Amino acid sequence: MKIQSSLLPEKSRKQKPTDVLKLSFGTVFTDHMFMMDYRNGNWLDPRVVPYGPLSIDPAALVLHYCQGIFEGLKAYRRGDRVLLFRPEKNIERLNKSAARMVMPTLDPGFALDSLLKLVRIERDWVPQVPGSSLYIRPTLIGTEPKLGVKAANEYLYYVILSPVGPYFPTGFGPVKIMVADKHVRAAEGGVGAAKTMGNYAAGLLAGKEAAEAGCTQVLWLDAHERRYLEEVGTMNIAVKFDDEVATPPLSGTILPGITRESVLHILRDWGLRVNEREISIDEVIEGLGTGRVEEILGCGTAAIIAPVGSLYYKGVTYTVGDGNTGPLTQRLYDELIGVQSGEREDKYNWVVEVS
Ligand code: PLP
Ligand code: COI
Repeated sequence: MKIQSSLLPEKSRKQKPTDVLKLSFGTVFTDHMFMMDYRNGNWLDPRVVPYGPLSIDPAALVLHYCQGIFEGLKAYRRGDRVLLFRPEKNIERLNKSAARMVMPTLDPGFALDSLLKLVRIERDWVPQVPGSSLYIRPTLIGTEPKLGVKAANEYLYYVILSPVGPYFPTGFGPVKIMVADKHVRAAEGGVGAAKTMGNYAAGLLAGKEAAEAGCTQVLWLDAHERRYLEEVGTMNIAVKFDDEVATPPLSGTILPGITRESVLHILRDWGLRVNEREISIDEVIEGLGTGRVEEILGCGTAAIIAPVGSLYYKGVTYTVGDGNTGPLTQRLYDELIGVQSGEREDKYNWVVEVS
C-alpha cells in the first residue's frame, strides 16, 4: 500500500516548543499525523495529513463501549540521528491488544514503515535536550456508528506525535506511590494485559485519591486478594531485595511492558539474580522495615525508570531506603536512556534508526 502525503507548507507549520523539559506531558503535537481506515475487511487509504480534529460519528462504537487501544513509544535524537527503541515490540503488542479487543490487526512491516515515514517527515520535532524525546502514540478505534454492543466493522488507525520531557511533573526524581487497597485495575481473565483505553479510565478514581494523599501514582494489587503487587498506573514495577531483583509475573492482569522486558534483560546480563514472581505487599512493607528492600523502581516508556521514594499504604508512609534514587535504579536509568538515545552501545540491537 502506498502512503499518500499532503503536507503543510513551511509557513503554516507550528513553532516548536523552546523548553521541552517544562512542557506538561503530551500537550503539544507536531504538524502531521498518520491515518488509515478499515472498511469491508480491508485497510485503506494510508496517509500523512496535517494534525487536526477527527470527524467521527457520535454513535461510533469506541465512544460508547471503549473499543479502542493504543501504544506508546519514543524517538530520541543524537545529533542528526533519530532513533526508535524496539518499535516492532510496540506493533506486536498493538496487535495482541487488537486481538483481545476483537479488532483487526495491522501488517507489522507496514505499521513499522508508516511509523518511520511519519517520524521522518517530523524529524525536526525530535528534541535535542537530554531527558526529552518525541513521544509516538499509535491509536486504533472502532468507528462504526451503532448503539448495539458489538465489535465494530469500521476502524480508524492513527498515529500522533508529541515532543515530551519527563512524564511526572516532579521530573525524574523519586516518586511517592499510593498502594491501592480498595480499587483494582484488572482481574484474571479480563483485559489487563491489553493496552486498551478502559483500563486507564478504570484507574482514574484511585489516581484521584492518590493525588489527594500527595502521591504521584497508584500501585495496584491483585484483584483477588489485594495482596500481591501488580503494576503502577503507567509503569511496571520492580523491587530490589538484598540478593534479588523481583518483578510481578506476566499473569495476564498487567501490561507486558517493553521497558520491563528490556530492564530484565539488562539486569540478567549484569549477572543479577532476577525473578518474575509474586511479591506480596506484606513482604515489601516488612522488607522496608528490616532493610531487605533496598530499592523500588517503576519502568515504562513515558516514565523511563522512576525511582520510588516512598510508598503510602493504609494511611502510613514507608520510605524506600533513604528516599533518594538508589544506585541500581540510577545505573539502570543511565544504561537504558544511554542505549535509547544512542549514547551507549546498542548491544542487543534494540535501536532502529530513522534514516
Ligand atoms: N503498565 C502500564 C499500565 C502502562 O501504561 C505502561 C506504559 O506503557 C507500562 C506498564 C509500561 O509499558 P512499556 O514499557 O511498554 O511502555
Ligand atoms: C506509556 O508509557 O507509553 C504509557 O502508556 C503511559 C501513558 C502516558 C498512558
